[in-house]
Amino acid sequence: MKNLIDILDLSLDEIFNLIETAIKIKNDPSRYLEKCKYKKMATLFFEPSTRTRLSFEAAMYELGGNVIGFSDAQSSSAAKGESVSDTAKVISCYSDIMVIRHPKEGAPLVASMNAAVPVINAGDGGHNHPTQTLTDLMTVYLEKKRLNNFTIGFCGDLKFGRTVHSLISTLCRHKNVKIILISPENLNLPSYMISNYINKNHIECIEANDLESVMPELDILYMTRLQKERFTGAQDFESLNNSYILTLNKLKSAKKDLCIMHPLPRVNEIETAVDADPRACYFKQVLNGKYIRMALILKLLEIE
Ligand code: NCD
Repeated sequence: MKNLIDILDLSLDEIFNLIETAIKIKNDPSRYLEKCKYKKMATLFFEPSTRTRLSFEAAMYELGGNVIGFSDAQSSSAAKGESVSDTAKVISCYSDIMVIRHPKEGAPLVASMNAAVPVINAGDGGHNHPTQTLTDLMTVYLEKKRLNNFTIGFCGDLKFGRTVHSLISTLCRHKNVKIILISPENLNLPSYMISNYINKNHIECIEANDLESVMPELDILYMTRLQKERFTGAQDFESLNNSYILTLNKLKSAKKDLCIMHPLPRVNEIETAVDADPRACYFKQVLNGKYIRMALILKLLEIE
């Protein structure tokens, strides 16, 4: 039985096959309407979510399956003190596959060690978010027709941004990828990310203080919001909140085919005027996320 806890659980070939399947589904969704007939997916969301939960649910419905679950830890037995491992054992009795988001790093891994059905990590604390990474890679592939040979800038909260961590960890397996990190002080990429992925794979990586100076170089700009809910006393949210805001003005020096990405939700880090720019790809990411999750459900349920 296969789970998806970390994006590195998938080989590059497996990721590419998922993207190919997702594109096939996107082009001809009617062929997939009954693939998961009589299958049930459980969504266990111990943390807020809009896109991830609803795209998983839409994905399962569009495959003809059903969905059970909860979107608020307070309405589950976690509120009574039930452990993640017990919850995983229980939900295994009711579902064929489960999707879990949890504020504690490692909780989906614990669930997978106790579940009798495949488990998908839908985000664990400030650690990982592998299905957002699949979404991001599909979007890069559709926009750039390649998954290598580019310069990508990551801007915003690189310390707590789990989508950034997952995407960087897998991009370090790709050829000729240059990474530029742009973050407020105290919100830098964690040192384990630098040593375990970037340095280990000899990836070209620089840090920049501002967006403007690196803008002309970028093929992809990956914006993120500050992860306010993960701030501890050590970081002062208000003082950092307006550090980097992408405006149309800042895009003047950008490449014509720059791909602007954001996992969403956006707070204030991209001004809404940018949305109409053809280089804005963040709402395309949202749609791709549904198709790649359909492909992932089929793979983990071993349905052709
Ligand atoms: C992200 C997350 O939950 O990590 N959202 C998402 O799933 N698309 C990003 C965020 O919350 O900032």
